[in-house]
Amino acid sequence: MFKSIREDIASVFDRDPAARSTWEVITCYPGFHALRFHRLAHALWNMKLRWLGRWVSNMGRWMTGIEIHPGATIGRRFFIDHGMGVVIGETAEIGDDVTLYHGVTLGGTSWNKGKRHPTLQNGVVIGAGAKVLGPIIVGEGAKIGSNAVVVKDVPPGASAVGIPARIIMGDKDKSREEKAAKLGFSAYAVTSKAEDDPLAKALQGLLDHSVEQDHRLEQLQREIEGMKVRAEDDRAVTDRFSPGRLRQVADK
Ligand SMILES: CC(C)(COP(=O)(O)OP(=O)(O)OC[C@H]1O[C@@H](n2cnc3c(N)ncnc32)[C@H](O)[C@@H]1OP(=O)(O)O)[C@@H](O)C(=O)NCCC(=O)NCCS
Repeated sequence: MFKSIREDIASVFDRDPAARSTWEVITCYPGFHALRFHRLAHALWNMKLRWLGRWVSNMGRWMTGIEIHPGATIGRRFFIDHGMGVVIGETAEIGDDVTLYHGVTLGGTSWNKGKRHPTLQNGVVIGAGAKVLGPIIVGEGAKIGSNAVVVKDVPPGASAVGIPARIIMGDKDKSREEKAAKLGFSAYAVTSKAEDDPLAKALQGLLDHSVEQDHRLEQLQREIEGMKVRAEDDRAVTDRFSPGRLRQVADK
């Protein structure tokens, strides 16, 4: 038991740069307290002392704002940062070295008995406010963005963001266009699902058309400049509408 407590304390230091001393972790980290309550509640639950397990779990919830069903299985070095509002359902399974932030729900989507909550494999990180719903699997080392709603499996090592969550791969060195093609994304975040929507379809058509026009204008501009015709004014107008410039304006 002491080994497990020491490990849990060490995991706080590994994952929270704000942690300064063991005493601080023991006295001021609700995630640490919730885990201690859960270890006891889970042991009672497994001993078929179901009411007592629920009661201990509820005490933990009062003290920490973190609700973990005593039936949930939690691996080693689990860390909940901040904690308030975390809910972990009865059939959730959590591997080793998993990190959750406040407001995370590992919830069910059906009232049927049996496995109805997610499985998080080792090393998963779930951002603040994210909801992971149903008996899905979040693969080893995957990351879930804050406020995402995840309803499908997430492959190992992937990051998922948004509602419903979509996968973004960790390929920062790839160009935006390559990433988009790989993920089947359309530029301007009009997703393939949205393509079923006639309004989105029309918008997509207009956007594609305007991108094509931009390219043609750019080509014409270059040819005019190649003919040594003075075209600074025209260049200024073209640049105002170039995709790069539009992105800058949108970012402001
Ligand atoms: C999901 C996450 C892990 C991704 O991190 P990353 O791999 O470094 O990814 P990037 O920051 O390069 O972002 C990649 C893309 O996803 C978008 N993105 C990142 N996080 C997002 C989120 N939570 N929701 C929606 N989109 C998100 C970015 O805007 C970027 O989009 P772009 O390619 O169109 O510019 C991270 O953003 C996150 O949400 N971590 C949780 C942090 C948290 O909850 N902290 C609480 C501390 S109290």
